[in-house]
Amino acid sequence: MDNLAFETHEDAKQKVVSEGKVNTSRMEKTKQWSLMSIFLVCLLACTITTVIGVLIVSLVYVNNPQPHSEPGAQSLQTAIPMVPKAVDPKFQFLNHLSKSKVFEFPGGAIQWARYRNNANDYLSIEEEAFGSSLNSQRSQMSFGTLRIKSSGLRAPHWHFNANEHGYLVQGTAWVGVVDDGAVITTYNVTAGQVIFFPKNTVHWIKNVGSEDCFFLLFFSTHEELQTLDVDDVFFSTPEDIASRSLKPEGGINFIRTFHKQEEDQGVNLPPNLAELVVNANYSQSPDNFVWRYFYDLKGSKEHRFPGGIIQLAQYWKNRSELSHNEKIFSEFLNQHQKALTLSTLRIYNNGLRQPHFHFNANEMGYVISGCAKVGIINAQSFTEFNIHIGDVIFFPTGTQHYIKSTCDEDLLLILAFSTGDQLQTLDMDDYLQATADHILAQLFFKKQSEFKKIPQFKEDQAVNLP
Ligand SMILES: *[C@@H]1O[C@H](CO)[C@@H](O)[C@H](O)[C@H]1NC(C)=O
Ligand SMILES: *[C@@H]1O[C@H](CO)[C@@H](O)[C@H](O)[C@H]1NC(C)=O
Ligand SMILES: *[C@@H]1O[C@H](CO)[C@@H](O)[C@H](O)[C@H]1NC(C)=O
Repeated sequence: MDNLAFETHEDAKQKVVSEGKVNTSRMEKTKQWSLMSIFLVCLLACTITTVIGVLIVSLVYVNNPQPHSEPGAQSLQTAIPMVPKAVDPKFQFLNHLSKSKVFEFPGGAIQWARYRNNANDYLSIEEEAFGSSLNSQRSQMSFGTLRIKSSGLRAPHWHFNANEHGYLVQGTAWVGVVDDGAVITTYNVTAGQVIFFPKNTVHWIKNVGSEDCFFLLFFSTHEELQTLDVDDVFFSTPEDIASRSLKPEGGINFIRTFHKQEEDQGVNLPPNLAELVVNANYSQSPDNFVWRYFYDLKGSKEHRFPGGIIQLAQYWKNRSELSHNEKIFSEFLNQHQKALTLSTLRIYNNGLRQPHFHFNANEMGYVISGCAKVGIINAQSFTEFNIHIGDVIFFPTGTQHYIKSTCDEDLLLILAFSTGDQLQTLDMDDYLQATADHILAQLFFKKQSEFKKIPQFKEDQAVNLP
């Protein structure tokens, strides 16, 4: 239908052009037309061509709505009354994860806030707007929540195209990571700790506590996340190849005794688990292995501000304040391409994480508790919206943003940044204080002396309270 519309316009355009040609040749032959008539005909032709041109351009814009259209395109859009109702622009930065599709498994459930190749994988246009935004901004990030029932197992698997960084909100899990050269590391992760699975390491997560495990997971890709589960690989391998590789007692006949379950075992929990497993050994690896893949974020240094607390699992250039275990993690993170920095941000009631931006990272976050008002200022727009438990937010590199805690309860966010280097941040008060007052006077049409009214504080006001 779209093509048809374009063809019609093209035909009309050609007609106008050829009519113009006819007129010109006629004039040359007869020379009866007055100069004025020629001028009027040309004017008419020009006008028709322009109108058709504008119509075509408008249609192109209507068919490909641009999230950041040029200022000039705005007037074209308003000239056409048929603009389809667009999704609220805030959904480029906000995802109500609790409303997204729940992928249920026998042992738990997964929900996603990420880019999808197939638009049918989104439940709503709002979710699609968020996924597209992550992808078009080349965010290097995807997000998911993973709930595992008691004794449930996130099957051993690996990701082709992303590092995985996670935060355990609740529960206890025995995690295994198999790295290059089959180096295996196992550890009991507890609430408040961080996990790091480099790209293509095989890893599993077994809930060894009595309550559900709840993981918040960030992946370092804005493309479709690519994952392969060990059981799926096994059943895709030809029997003779599997037999020759594993050399089991009974050979290929033993391999044939394995049967693929009907249901996806991504998070598994066999009903007869007690029969199957009689002797589980949840041993832990030595510290120098463990602390490459794990980090005690809850127990790390608290960066305290008048309005809240920030804690960071990141690479530090200056390691003097890090513990031995933290140094291991910091170095290991920095050795990997496209690693992420994780952080918790606690803001007390009415506290404000003042406007700031990051030089070297996109940012994604998830609301663990509390609620807040969030503002985002980028080159094209200003957007403000409220966030609640279960919401996911996204701030592209360089966009200025702020977060104001608005509930009685503390706001608690887990944040991920797309850098394996030390995070670089600039706060509004810092860059305004750093700008010479005569430059500010000239910029704001305000007497230089007026800028003395903006005080400087001894304490960093990154998270402030009135
Ligand atoms: C890990 O957790 C399991 C289950 O609670 C427990 O049996 C095991 O002793 C723990 N391992 C270590 C080394 O603490
Ligand atoms: C558990 O496994 C570890 C590592 O494989 C091993 O060193 C240890 O002896 C095992 N413990 C028991 C009780 O089997
Ligand atoms: C590293 O941090 C410590 C403690 O904050 C500080 O005393 C030291 O000067 C720093 N070193 C460098 C090279 O910046």
